Amino acid sequence: MVTEQRFGTSRVTLVQGDITAQVVDAVVNAANSSLLGGGGVDGAIHRVGGPAILAACRTIVARIGRLEPGGAVVTPAGDLPARFVIHTVGPVWRGGVEAEEATLERAYRESLSRALEAGARSVAFPSISTGAYRFPIRRAAAVALATVASVLEDGADLDEVRFVLFSGRDLGVYAETLAALDG
Ligand code: APR
Repeated sequence: MVTEQRFGTSRVTLVQGDITAQVVDAVVNAANSSLLGGGGVDGAIHRVGGPAILAACRTIVARIGRLEPGGAVVTPAGDLPARFVIHTVGPVWRGGVEAEEATLERAYRESLSRALEAGARSVAFPSISTGAYRFPIRRAAAVALATVASVLEDGADLDEVRFVLFSGRDLGVYAETLAALDG
């Protein structure tokens, strides 16, 4: 099973685990447009990260109203073993007829942009949109890995981009997809 590949001067790694336990500079949250929390990754990040994260989200929402799908914003990481949380909103899957793949690509690109702007050297992503938002995992993995590989090959100055998969099944899908990408 391929769980690591080099792109440019960076590494893409795949692990099975909990996004809240990742010791990286930036952890990406699979948020919703309200930025006020939820279940899944969102629930775990707020539960483990503590109230400082929600307070920072409220300040952002007061300024921008809501975070559009594909957008990404940065907050402190509270009690997480990370420096930042990058909140992004993935697309809800509606059958593939509403440019969901383009929105998912934008969510990964915008998240990496916020990470680079914040000076992060390592970023951990969950499998955005493949839970409550019902995006098919194989199609999501293809968008996620191709987008990250493209940004890294274009010279993004990151040491590691890590995908943290919650299940062995999801890890397997991402590993097959990564193996199919030429690094
Ligand atoms: N660590 C890593 N991965 C996790 C964790 C965790 N602690 N919890 C869930 N996952 C996995 C899920 O199994 C799924 O594969 O993350 C992926 C994304 O699932 P969701 O968290 O449901 O995110 P998403 O599909 O993008 O839906 C976002 O759900 O929680 C709400 O507020 C959130 O409305 C938003 C929506």
